[in-house]
Amino acid sequence: MLVRFALTFALVALAGCGDSPPPAPGAQGTYDRHCAECHAQAGEPGGPGVGGSRGPNLSKIAERPGRTAEWLAQYISDPKATKPGAKLMPAFGDKLSAAQIKELAEWLAAKK
Ligand code: HEC
Repeated sequence: MLVRFALTFALVALAGCGDSPPPAPGAQGTYDRHCAECHAQAGEPGGPGVGGSRGPNLSKIAERPGRTAEWLAQYISDPKATKPGAKLMPAFGDKLSAAQIKELAEWLAAKK
């Protein structure tokens, strides 16, 4: 009985988290769904409560030399083929459409 109660409570508590706002449209939405799990920083939506993220902070990515929309689109499609040092980031060339990647790359290229 107590276990049943505890389980029900846990399920209700989990369901309560489903009240999140609808996903953002456009590049922000794509980012929230596919990139934030590794790139959001502590305190940002999708980011860890405390501590670091697996991927680098992208909030000023366009300030780094060579990070044009074209380069970013290529990188997102296939990181390892674009930059020899990339190891952990998955390729998105088969997960996102070319239009989504282009939109995301242009959105990132404006971040400085
Ligand atoms: C599984 C974790 C993970 C996911 C998901 C992920 N990344 Fe990354 N990303 C990384 C890591 C780790 C690096 C650092 C390079 C490496 O080791 O692969 C990186 C590097 C980058 C860089 C920096 C490239 C440079 O050298 O300037 C960009 C831009 C980037 N990611 C964009 C994205 C975008 C856009 C998405 C979503 C479509 C995404 N990442 C999803 C882990 C991830």
